Amino acid sequence: MNKTQEFISENKEVFLSELFDLLRIPSVSADPSKKEDMIKTAESVKQSLLDAGADMAELCETPGNPIVYAEKIIDSALPTVVVYGHYDVQPADPLDLWDSPAFEPVVKKTEIHPEGAIFARGACDDKGQMFMHVKAFEAMNKSGELPCNVKFMIEGEEEVGSICLDAFVKENHEKLAGDVILISDTGMLANNTPSITTGLRGLSYVEVEVTGPNRDLHSGLYGGAVANPINVLNRMIASLQDENKHITIPGFYDKVVELSEKERTEMGKAPFSIEDYKAALDLGDVEGEAGYSTMERATIRPTLDVNGIWGGYQGEGAKTVIASKAYAKISMRLVPDQDPDEITELFVKHFESIAPDSVKVKVTAHHGGMPYVSPTDSIAYNAASKAMEEAFGKKPIPVRSGGSIPIVSLFEQELKMKTILFGFGLDSDAIHSPNEHYGLFNFYKGIETIPYFYKHFVEMKK
Ligand code: BES
Ligand code: MN
Ligand code: MN
Repeated sequence: MNKTQEFISENKEVFLSELFDLLRIPSVSADPSKKEDMIKTAESVKQSLLDAGADMAELCETPGNPIVYAEKIIDSALPTVVVYGHYDVQPADPLDLWDSPAFEPVVKKTEIHPEGAIFARGACDDKGQMFMHVKAFEAMNKSGELPCNVKFMIEGEEEVGSICLDAFVKENHEKLAGDVILISDTGMLANNTPSITTGLRGLSYVEVEVTGPNRDLHSGLYGGAVANPINVLNRMIASLQDENKHITIPGFYDKVVELSEKERTEMGKAPFSIEDYKAALDLGDVEGEAGYSTMERATIRPTLDVNGIWGGYQGEGAKTVIASKAYAKISMRLVPDQDPDEITELFVKHFESIAPDSVKVKVTAHHGGMPYVSPTDSIAYNAASKAMEEAFGKKPIPVRSGGSIPIVSLFEQELKMKTILFGFGLDSDAIHSPNEHYGLFNFYKGIETIPYFYKHFVEMKK
């Protein structure tokens, strides 16, 4: 074992207790009342980077939450790894569905994590994964084995669309210059099946409002004679997919890149059990676009999903009423080469066109993001693959993910750098859900693997 790995195994307990401190701060970016906690979290990340040995660390103020920037430049002739992560988390609600409080981390054993998992909001997405990089950096540094320059860019608004980071990246090309972006904010197939994420879906997110009569009406006096906006909204939404679960918005698929048979066969080789999948989610059956496998539906195909729908009476008992308004939040996950702005525009046009004259509709666009695919023949990919092989004793499989990290395509566009999605979470870790957790195995495996990446990347760059 080299000195870095020795340092890691000697400090496992300390690393965990430091992560717990970070998880205790409720850095929910969607909640305006958590502003102070956001700053507290950013300060804490900054301090841990300084303690880890960064030359400098600072909070870069933005109109939103600060971005933590830190660097250690050991030799400008050596490569530079730029680490990105986020310290903000999703809201913890519904709180009553947590078995232990969301911001009081505890380790509990699960079937998938027999050695224990850390239960807390942000344990996996992304404080736990981001913190692995801080600790790996510390280990390399304090062992005198840091092989190249490092820059950290840890933001506090990923879960709400990275709007301020967008501007920060555009204004700081030089500051952020480097050779590769390294992110642990995704997952892998299983603890005994390492994989590297080679693609992310994009996102277009809209909110729709359907207005029927100008006020709520007695459903006996008016029912049957006027449009009920809730009924109409449901019909409109239902029509957005046909019986094959194809999305019916004209032009929606125009730019979708179809995978070749060879690529699909390759994808099909990743271990996947439909029976386990159904059992884990307690489903009688799966459902999705005709002609594609479950894995394909969840990664390389675009989707349209209602994320929330409301309107009318929701209190106790029965109230006989026709509501004036109905609402829904709708997300569309996008794949190369779909463009979120174009898709949003197509949605708006279509949604307005299918509205009957009996209602008015209003569509508001929320944040979006571009899809991303990374090459598997780059130096960085090969270094990541070798690092995983060294840590897991198995070569990782490249897999595309269905999730989105919109800023990744902007990094490429603005900074001309490719990203390695070096994630160690599992789909079963319940990110964004109650009882989010992150395996101790995954946390420590990540810390172990990251220094191998640095080593191989620097060697292969020579
Ligand atoms: N870390 C996730 C994205 C992710 C998770 C990608 C697992 C692949 C595997 C990220 O924090 C996230 O939740 N992204 C959002 C998009 C954002 C614009 C709110 C998402 O995918 O819904
Ligand atoms: Mn994340
Ligand atoms: Mn997230």
